[in-house]
Amino acid sequence: MFIVTNMWITVVIALVAIYIIVAVLVSRSRANKGPRPPEYPGALPLIGHGHLFGSGNSDAFWLLLQDCYRFANSNSGVAGLRIVQTQYYMVTDPDDCVTLANTALDKDVVYDFMKPFLGEGLLTATVPIWKIHRKLLTPAFSQGVLDGFIGVFNSQSKKLVSSLNQEDGKKPFDFWTYIGPNALETICLTAMGGATTDDRLTSKYMRATENLYNIIVSRFQRFWLHNNFVFNLTSLGRRQKKYIKMANGVTSAVLERRKNELVNGTPNSEENSGKKLKAFIDLIIEYSGERGLLSDQEIREEVSTIIIAGHDTSASTIVYTLVLLGSHPEIQERVFKEIDEVLGDRDVEKQDLPKLVFVEAVLKEALRLYPIAPFIVRRLTESLKLKHYTLPAGSSAFLAIHALHRHKMWGDDAEHFLPDRWLDKNRIPEHQAAFAAFSLGRRMCIGKNYALMNMKTTLAHLIRSFRFKSNISELKLKIDLMLKPHAGHYIAVERRM
Ligand code: HEM
Repeated sequence: MFIVTNMWITVVIALVAIYIIVAVLVSRSRANKGPRPPEYPGALPLIGHGHLFGSGNSDAFWLLLQDCYRFANSNSGVAGLRIVQTQYYMVTDPDDCVTLANTALDKDVVYDFMKPFLGEGLLTATVPIWKIHRKLLTPAFSQGVLDGFIGVFNSQSKKLVSSLNQEDGKKPFDFWTYIGPNALETICLTAMGGATTDDRLTSKYMRATENLYNIIVSRFQRFWLHNNFVFNLTSLGRRQKKYIKMANGVTSAVLERRKNELVNGTPNSEENSGKKLKAFIDLIIEYSGERGLLSDQEIREEVSTIIIAGHDTSASTIVYTLVLLGSHPEIQERVFKEIDEVLGDRDVEKQDLPKLVFVEAVLKEALRLYPIAPFIVRRLTESLKLKHYTLPAGSSAFLAIHALHRHKMWGDDAEHFLPDRWLDKNRIPEHQAAFAAFSLGRRMCIGKNYALMNMKTTLAHLIRSFRFKSNISELKLKIDLMLKPHAGHYIAVERRM
């Protein structure tokens, strides 16, 4: 027994020694290739900054990331972070961010948590597949197609307004409980169609995606669940399997139905408030069918990707916008005036959208201050030459969108909510990385125009129906997969006469 214990101790000591030698050799080989960015303070031997990241506390995590990017800002715009053996860099310099976005197209391993559900959908796809799919899907986001969604955007906004009536004149409430499900339904309707889809299927799909999103967030926050083997043994892993099966069951049923309609010559579009609607799933079947490019599984993955990438982002941005407007009544009244002048009482039409100039300025300013994706993370398959440093292949880099939006190029008032800056060309920095809410470069958001159209329509209906009251100074943030309000986001509504 004593001999066996001794043997184990020797093996463990030998493994630790090998690990340390390899770690030292790897870091020396990196150090030999030119100057290294300064390391963010607090690294421990072996685990590096892992102890700072893995606490599962998402508001502390947000404070840590901000502190790290401030450290990078004061050190030529790049800082090193190490989690055990994985080397990360925080990049805040605007020129370096452009280089990073344009050169490194591979996503970091953290995106792999979404892969069991989203597979090779655009958000998580490996680069060779992404290139083919992005080209194939781009026409589905053309202005002509998006114009067909305006009827859905109007009817969903009116549904939201009518459900909010019950809060009229009451105390502040969590707006997310209204906008979250509404936004998910909107994106499901435009992704999979409405009237020809069974309503029960849509709500089943919504339940599955909501649960899947929460599971991915819980996993992301608990570093001990990052390992696939361990995760699959947990109840969270088992729940993930269950909900993926549920969601895939729905997309498979919709896909089969749509394909049959196509074969039988049934028109593959439907009416919504008098407007022709062609859902993303129909367009993807069409584009893929012509060239036979996507399997059923790939079509399902793209539809789920659009839904996951599209609902939470827009809904959270609306929440931030309303908290900001609720704290700046004079700006809210200017928004109301513009909506009243352009629309009066009628629904939004496509030709109205470019006229809602101030509404757009407000949305962009909200996105600048509270970008829902404050960082994106890219994996470097080759070394990346920046202005002052060369980052080694095998590492990963954070592109710090939140830092760009508060960079000194925005002036001394960068921290303030000033939508008017968007109306004056001289007040917007010329640098192409100044505004990166929808990311930068070739892998930027494909749904940007969809999001702006949808959010403008939603705001138009909300602001002309209600006055919003809130207090931005109480807003506290956290990061799960995205930047989310942790406190101070409650809003009160008062019906306009
Ligand atoms: C306010 C709303 C939105 C914001 C702020 C936003 C932001 C972003 C950002 C920052 C990325 C890059 C993510 C990364 O590289 O990790 C992205 C990618 C993406 N977004 Fe959006 N998004 C919004 C709405 C939408 C909508 C409505 C859709 C779909 C209808 C959508 C679909 C996508 C897709 C498919 C990608 C992956 C693109 C690719 O890799 O080719 N997004 N978005």
